[in-house]
Amino acid sequence: MATSDLALFLGQLVRRPHQVVALAPSSRFLCAEMVAEIDPGAGPVIELGAGTGNITQAILGRGVAPENLHSIEMNPDFCDRLRARFPGLNVHKMSAGDVGELPVEKAQAVVSGLPLLSMPVALQRDILSGSFARLAPGGTYVQFTYGPKPPVTRAVREELGLDWRVSGKIWWNLPPARVYRFYRASPETGA
Ligand SMILES: C[S@@+](CC[C@H](N)C(=O)[O-])C[C@H]1O[C@@H](n2cnc3c(N)ncnc32)[C@H](O)[C@@H]1O
Repeated sequence: MATSDLALFLGQLVRRPHQVVALAPSSRFLCAEMVAEIDPGAGPVIELGAGTGNITQAILGRGVAPENLHSIEMNPDFCDRLRARFPGLNVHKMSAGDVGELPVEKAQAVVSGLPLLSMPVALQRDILSGSFARLAPGGTYVQFTYGPKPPVTRAVREELGLDWRVSGKIWWNLPPARVYRFYRASPETGA
């Protein structure tokens, strides 16, 4: 990561701590786990809370074409940096709560760098229900968390019929994190 990207991240952390909610951008080890199941031939990918683009770069590094990646970010300074850093990337300056309105069909995955646990349940519900509206059957919502519990609250998981898989702890990240992959327990019924 360029020094200027780190400076931008830390500057925005000071100005907007309730939106950024991380001590540092995701490490390359965490990014690698976030994108490990991305297949460039399996359809578009949606990214939430792209920040300065560490996870974006890892998704593109899997071979996904920039025009097949849609990155949502609400911070205008981060959006400017993403557009400069990744020509051809679809950068959407909007709230992740409106992800259901994206003009994307049958996404293979939604990859989220959002501080989901610090968000109100209503916003979490909009993010998760909107994401699953854009995902293909069997698609996954990928989310890291620093805490010991699943990063989607039980109420939202139950409403949407979500199950999950979780990675081992990624120690080389500040702070250490785990990656959860949420999927519909019964994708064919949309339960
Ligand atoms: C923890 S940072 C993650 C940045 C980057 N993805 C990474 O992993 O290094 C969280 C990002 O989510 C963005 N964000 C927070 N709330 C958001 C929302 N409701 N809609 C879109 N982006 C949001 C912040 O601006 C910030 O860039």
